[in-house]
Amino acid sequence: MRDPQTFCIKTYGCQMNELDSEVMVGMLERRGLRRTDDEQTADILIFNTCSVRDLAERKVLGKLGQVARRRRDDPIIGITGCMASAKKETLLKKLPYIDFVLGTNNIHQLTSVLDEVISSSQRIARVDDQFSNELDYAHATRNDPLRAHVSIIRGCNKHCTYCIVPYTRGSECSRHPDDIVAECKNLVEKGYKEITLLGQNVNSYGKDRPDWSLRFPDLLARLDRIPNMCRVRFLTSHPVDMSVELMEAIRDLPTVCEFVHFPLQAGSNRILRKMNRGYTREDYEDKVAALRERVPGVAIGTDIIVGFPSETDAEFEETNEALRRLKFSAAFLFSYSPRKGTPATRWDDDVSQAEKERRLQTILTTQEEVSFTEMQQMLGTRVEVLVEGTSPKDEKMVKGRTRTWKNVVFPGSQQLLGTLQTLTLTSMAHQTFVGSLDIDPIPNHP
Ligand code: 5AD
Ligand code: SF4
Repeated sequence: MRDPQTFCIKTYGCQMNELDSEVMVGMLERRGLRRTDDEQTADILIFNTCSVRDLAERKVLGKLGQVARRRRDDPIIGITGCMASAKKETLLKKLPYIDFVLGTNNIHQLTSVLDEVISSSQRIARVDDQFSNELDYAHATRNDPLRAHVSIIRGCNKHCTYCIVPYTRGSECSRHPDDIVAECKNLVEKGYKEITLLGQNVNSYGKDRPDWSLRFPDLLARLDRIPNMCRVRFLTSHPVDMSVELMEAIRDLPTVCEFVHFPLQAGSNRILRKMNRGYTREDYEDKVAALRERVPGVAIGTDIIVGFPSETDAEFEETNEALRRLKFSAAFLFSYSPRKGTPATRWDDDVSQAEKERRLQTILTTQEEVSFTEMQQMLGTRVEVLVEGTSPKDEKMVKGRTRTWKNVVFPGSQQLLGTLQTLTLTSMAHQTFVGSLDIDPIPNHP
């Protein structure tokens, strides 16, 4: 029987995966194991994986192979997360050196599965289709002392044709509002200043539980009332579910930051239909206009996929044009990657790799120009910054983020960490502003 003392968790993918890793660290520490970042010596190695694109999977498999070749001392190796859910037991067959596979909906079983692996030397795969057991968030070991992720809804019901998430995380399952409020209260009492609510589609919150009679804007209002709550953010918002009530909540609740991550995915209506997004480009632009009209100073972020099956050059140009017109504050740009089991794989992946690369470069350049102009226009304005740490480049400077997710550095000491400061933006370099401290705070913000 093996007697592990230490563990190392490698995390890939999105914020939900980061949160799941923090929960796993907490579970293993409570079982008496010690965390290490050293993959060469850890007795237990866990790879918390992502399947969203082929590259994400290849990264994990490359790393796994490398570690398995180097280690001669037979560590316990587990694969958790989306790749575990997508590939299930086949991972045990394909990778003889791994000991367990735990799907996204089975994280709560980590310690019991580990105990079974240790006592029986059996290889185990647990992969449930649906999320049903809430995790022990109260004992999660968080990586950041000021900013915490809080899960409010798991899974996704949308079924975009390119996306693996409904298969790896199951259908929507909202978490009880009392549990969310209690967790947030607890985090605020511990000194957390910024809470990011997580869900594949946060705007769907509560729709699977009509008996609660509570929707996402109501949840935001409850969180806003927590004493000393400083900032609340949320990710991700599906355009179809972006309601006027939500826009008004962002406008009216002082703690809710004016930043909305709002994936467009494509600028062509034919491609949007093929993606099964449920809106046209015009619908989307109307929602953006409504958001900007209702929420002064709102910043909008987006996700884009180029090279979706059969996307023509002219259709791609519609996406490029949309980026120019809509002036997103941030954009995450991807080239299409076919995922096994998703509806889009019934169409040929017929845009060549070189053409996908060209399209990606084109929109990267467009977005750089848009971001540069936006940042230039912000120079001279006053912003509220949550001070998060010392600048990695200069220890006499501290760094933080504005409410709209812009990076700012300014002269300051460690004593400012965790405080909200008002700054005037004086210059910029790359994606970061340099600011100078103002004495008077901006009115109306906590
Ligand atoms: N190929 C490329 N990008 C994808 N995304 C999701 N699935 C795929 C895929 N198969 C992108 C979407 C989503 C983001 C998290 O990842 O833009 O919003
Ligand atoms: Fe990756 Fe999506 Fe799974 Fe997050 S939910 S880990 S982005 S596949």
